Amino acid sequence: MHPDLERILFDEETLQAKVAEMGATLSRDYAGKTPLLICILKGAALFMSDLVKRIDVPIEMDFMAISSYGQSTKSSGAVRILYDLERPVEGRDVIIVEDIVDTGLTLAYLRDTMIRRQAASVKIVSLFDKPSGRKVDIQPDYFGFTVPDAFIVGYGLDYAERYRNLPYVGILKSDIYATG
Ligand code: PRP
Ligand code: MN
Ligand code: MG
Repeated sequence: MHPDLERILFDEETLQAKVAEMGATLSRDYAGKTPLLICILKGAALFMSDLVKRIDVPIEMDFMAISSYGQSTKSSGAVRILYDLERPVEGRDVIIVEDIVDTGLTLAYLRDTMIRRQAASVKIVSLFDKPSGRKVDIQPDYFGFTVPDAFIVGYGLDYAERYRNLPYVGILKSDIYATG
């Protein structure tokens, strides 16, 4: 385990099993369709890459970068598009792929954006859900695990851009972000 972690919440095997299960569910629900999966960079990059391998209907992928956290452990509340989609979503069955829903601000913003751009349908899939953090009333349509009110890192999730490459997810020791 990485020395900056207090403990591991989900090991690699547990994550991969859940991602496979979520891929199977999406394959059933989107049978006969060609959904457009939109990966929300950077946090969702690892989940996206494993998830698409577990979906057996035709899909397309696009990428969008959003930021509200910056170098902090708390959401700034102001959501910004850092990098937009390559192609229009008009008429598409959009699946927004996120690593975690915390305050819900990122997701509320993204869902509104996709509806405004006239997607045919918009669903949200998030590997993690942290309901204790919610500031706006929005829930992912699909989620893998509920997580406690702690700052978690790994498998795409960062603190100040670090720890994204850990193949597991754990709770960051509080002195790491207290001392910066
Ligand atoms: C994190 C996370 C989600 C969002 C969730 O992204 O990856 O996208 O915050 O938080 P919310 O529900 O409170 O909006 P971040 O802004 O840190 O960017 P990153 O994905 O590049 O790390
Ligand atoms: Mn993110
Ligand atoms: Mg982040």
